[in-house]
Parts: sequence; structure tokens; C-alpha cells
Amino acid sequence: MTLSYGVRAEPVLDSLDLCVAAGEHLAVVGPSGIGKSTLTRLVAGTLAPSGGEIRVAGRSVTACAVADLTALRVLVPQEAYVFSGTVGDNLAYLRPDATGADLDATVRALGLRSLVARLGGLDGPVRPGELSPAERQLIALARAYLSPAPLLLLDEATCHLDPAAEAQAEEALARRPGTLLVVAHRLSSAVRADRVLVLDGVQAVCGKHEEVLARSSLYRDLTGHWNDGSHREA
Ligand SMILES: Nc1ncnc2c1ncn2[C@@H]1O[C@H](COP(=O)(O)OP(=O)(O)O)[C@@H](O)[C@H]1O
Ligand SMILES: [Mg+2]
Repeated sequence: MTLSYGVRAEPVLDSLDLCVAAGEHLAVVGPSGIGKSTLTRLVAGTLAPSGGEIRVAGRSVTACAVADLTALRVLVPQEAYVFSGTVGDNLAYLRPDATGADLDATVRALGLRSLVARLGGLDGPVRPGELSPAERQLIALARAYLSPAPLLLLDEATCHLDPAAEAQAEEALARRPGTLLVVAHRLSSAVRADRVLVLDGVQAVCGKHEEVLARSSLYRDLTGHWNDGSHREA
């Protein structure tokens, strides 16, 4: 598929052809402004391609009704959304029939126990303004974990977590049945994935971490940049 934001604009993604297997874990990397978020919005069906087609679980996402899209995929953006309500309401938002045991397992898997305890348990109130960006991200990730959708898209959705919390959350999300597409914020996210997609504006390179290291000079540059610690959020 191809995506241009205007009829005369240069395409952000040009004839990208990508197939992600059911259950696969794909990391997407590339410099800022290259089209990673655009790709997640296209796959999520919230942005229509200028040409070509995107199918999730065999269904063309542009042709899907909103309710059907919700059942197919969850997109967790960088700025997590939480709402006023209980912790349990926030976690079960995409899975209203979740049992207490489901919620407890999710809290454990994602590393939310101390946060949930501090908020007064699953019945404790969430006041969005009183949570840190990292705490909001953990709640959004736990909500996505519980969703029955077969595809999860994380767009730098762990950027406020420390590396250990990010690893715990990402590993839990990767163990969840279903397909995981992660716009990576750190090299460790790319190394954990089954395959890495490098977007560099000219051509996309996709393969296992070692293959992509060999084939993409941009990936070698990015991994060098990540390794020397210069890739830090403000
Ligand atoms: N809604 C939009 N309208 C016009 N241009 C956009 C829009 N969203 C993103 N872009 C442009 O598309 C390019 C890719 O953006 P984006 O997908 O956000 O990159 P990334 O997530 O890799 O940083 C950038 O040049 C950006 O300025
Ligand atoms: Mg982005």
C-alpha cells in the first residue's frame, strides 16, 4: 500500500508490501517522521491508504464498521488514555466480561501490582490527572492485554516505562495469543521481536534482527545510536 497525506505530497509509505503471520511479533523501527505511526494508523484502519489494501485476519480494514474494527485490533498510542472510574473499569474496558481472576492475572503479568495496591485495589478510583505518564501507560497496556482482539499495535506505547518495566510488559503482550506489532522505542524491543521492519523512506527492509543488521545500514546506525545511550527521551 501507498500513503500520501496530500494529492501532491510525496508518499510517506510507497508500495509497502508486508505480510505478518498470525501470532508473529514484529518490531517497526526508523527515524522520527519516517512513517511508523502512519503505518500503525493504516493497519488499525483509522487512516485509509492512498493506494493498495490492508487486511487484518483476512478482512479489509477500510471496509470494516467501527465495531468490527474494535474486535480486530487494539492500537495503543504513545499518550495513553485512562478515564475516571475504577481501576477495574479501566482494565476491563475492552473486555467487559473479564472475571476477577482475569483481572488479577493481568495485573500480575504486566507488573501492575504495586500501582493497583496504591490506588486501593481493583475497586479503587482512577484520577487520570494524578497518574504519571508511566502509570497511565501501564493501565493502557493492561487493558490491551485483556482485549480479545487478535492484533495489538503499540506505537511507542512503553516510552515512559523504565527498561525493566518495558521488558515485562512487552514479554507479557508477546505471550498473549495473537499478533503483536510494536513501534520500538529501544533496541531491546527490536531484539525481542520475531522480525524487524526498518522504514528508511526509500525502501523498507524486513527480517530477523541479525538479517536486518546485515542488510540495512540505517538499522546499523540506529542500533549504534541506541547502544551508546544517546537515545533517551527528555
Ligand atoms: N495528519 C498528517 N497530515 C500531514 N502530514 C502528516 C500527518 N501525520 C504525519 N504526517 C507526516 O508524515 C510523516 C510521517 O509521520 P509519522 O508517521 O508520525 O512518523 P513517525 O511515527 O515515524 O515519527 C512526517 O513527515 C509527518 O510530518
Ligand atoms: Mg510516531
